[in-house]
Amino acid sequence: MREITKVEIITRPEKLEELKEAMNAIGVTGMTVTQVYGCGLSKGHKEVYRGKEVTVNLLPKVKIEIVVCEVPVEKVLDAAKKACRTGNIGDGKIFVYSIANAVRIRTGEEGDIAIMDPKDTTK
Ligand SMILES: Nc1ncnc2c1ncn2[C@@H]1O[C@H](COP(=O)(O)OP(=O)(O)OP(=O)(O)O)[C@@H](O)[C@H]1O
Ligand SMILES: [Mg+2]
Repeated sequence: MREITKVEIITRPEKLEELKEAMNAIGVTGMTVTQVYGCGLSKGHKEVYRGKEVTVNLLPKVKIEIVVCEVPVEKVLDAAKKACRTGNIGDGKIFVYSIANAVRIRTGEEGDIAIMDPKDTTK
């Protein structure tokens, strides 16, 4: 079984569309998106949100979870960095996890097969 990895990207809500397009372009087939609030290392420092400087610690972000096995993790990271980077404080974070297993509920398939494109019968 091929390794399964989850890439979790927490970034600015306004970057979601660009990120979705970038992921589609490299063949990512699934993702989970959650609206979250968070803060990072720059906690207490001022981060600009919608043109206003805010001093509160928790700012609206989006969390994008992507589980891959065929698409190389490096490719996901490169695409995410390119799409989300503005160079300003608060661009976000990327966390990478090893996934023990995956199950496609409809068929009961487990492991790498569960997250592969079923149309691709060569794999
Ligand atoms: N250590 C952490 N644990 C969990 N979530 C985190 C952590 N650091 C950052 N995050 C999440 O990532 C979001 C974006 O973080 P942020 O870009 O502010 O990180 P940073 O380390 O402060 O970098 P920067 O200096 O660019 O602001 C946070 O709002 C939070 O949701
Ligand atoms: Mg920060």
